[in-house]
Amino acid sequence: MLRTRVCEVFGIEHPLVLGGMGSATNVDLVVAVCEAGGLGILGATGLSPEQIRESAEQIRGRTTRPFGLNLLIAFATGEQLEACLAAPAPVLSTAWGEPAAFARRAREAGVAWMHMVQTAAQAAEAARLGAAVVVVQGHEGGGHVGHVSTLPLVPAAVDAIAAALPDGPRPPIVAAGGIADGRGLAAALALGAEGVLLGTRFLATDEAPVPEVAKRAICAASEADTVFTTVVDHVQRPQWLEIGAHSRALRTRAVLEWVGREEELRRLPEEDRRAIGARWAQARAGDRLDDMVILTGEDSGLIHDVLPAGEVVRRVVAEAEAVLTGLRRYGGA
Ligand SMILES: Cc1cc2nc3c(=O)[nH]c(=O)nc-3n(C[C@H](O)[C@H](O)[C@H](O)COP(=O)(O)O)c2cc1C
Repeated sequence: MLRTRVCEVFGIEHPLVLGGMGSATNVDLVVAVCEAGGLGILGATGLSPEQIRESAEQIRGRTTRPFGLNLLIAFATGEQLEACLAAPAPVLSTAWGEPAAFARRAREAGVAWMHMVQTAAQAAEAARLGAAVVVVQGHEGGGHVGHVSTLPLVPAAVDAIAAALPDGPRPPIVAAGGIADGRGLAAALALGAEGVLLGTRFLATDEAPVPEVAKRAICAASEADTVFTTVVDHVQRPQWLEIGAHSRALRTRAVLEWVGREEELRRLPEEDRRAIGARWAQARAGDRLDDMVILTGEDSGLIHDVLPAGEVVRRVVAEAEAVLTGLRRYGGA
């Protein structure tokens, strides 16, 4: 059985984490991942403190296993943070923003803090701030991502954390970005990570609160069907661009019509950009795929079926175990 320090830190069976993907996660998805032995994380950035409390209670009512709540630091309020720390969730997951104050409050509250980074220097900083686990997210991933790919980023983060904490103890790394199956989990372990966090793979599950047409589009997409772009954020939330994030999205007409015209988009009056965002939202509500924005990773090309989330956990882990066994033919025990 595949066990790493990530399993020990979180008290979970398998070193596999559900990305806290904002409104693309819900109680059902989190519970399904937890019950299958992974760590479910609910995206809480769009929830009020009351909704955070209610959702966490609902999860706790349906599983006794550990789970986490996720906040995007750059957009979260102190009230949201306090609601997460007071909720019956043993893990606070954060990303994107200056983490020191969140780290300190999590430590004071006795909640395990997991932080997602996009560079090796940020990984070292998170380790110095006392992260229980550092999530290292590569450019291939879906949603908001940085500029370095998972393959060079994970070992660079391992080295940076070792240099930052030469005498240990050092937090384990979880790799994210472009990982959708057991081959990706096995590869992440080879790079020095001790687990994986999956986003896009869990969008195409029965439980995910994502339009069916978007789930089918992910299953039909190839690895070349996404674009790394500022278009989405010029329309929806320009603050993302100020903190160095761009979006990775499916190459739908909605996005492609602005690719190469980003400056024009940026200069549009705010009400015009709002109108574009409203059209995207209407398309999502009306299942019109071409006019929708769907944030997904390059690993869309590895996803062919909408599955129950628990089945995703079981398949990824079983495949990784088989891959690792097969690799022994190249040497080792
Ligand atoms: C639709 C979507 C929304 C996301 N929202 C968040 C978020 O609110 N907080 C966060 O920490 N990560 C968020 N992410 C990033 C994921 O946590 C994860 O890093 C990423 O999906 C990994 O790459 P993958 O999609 O290739 O698995 C989001 C990803 C997607 C696809």
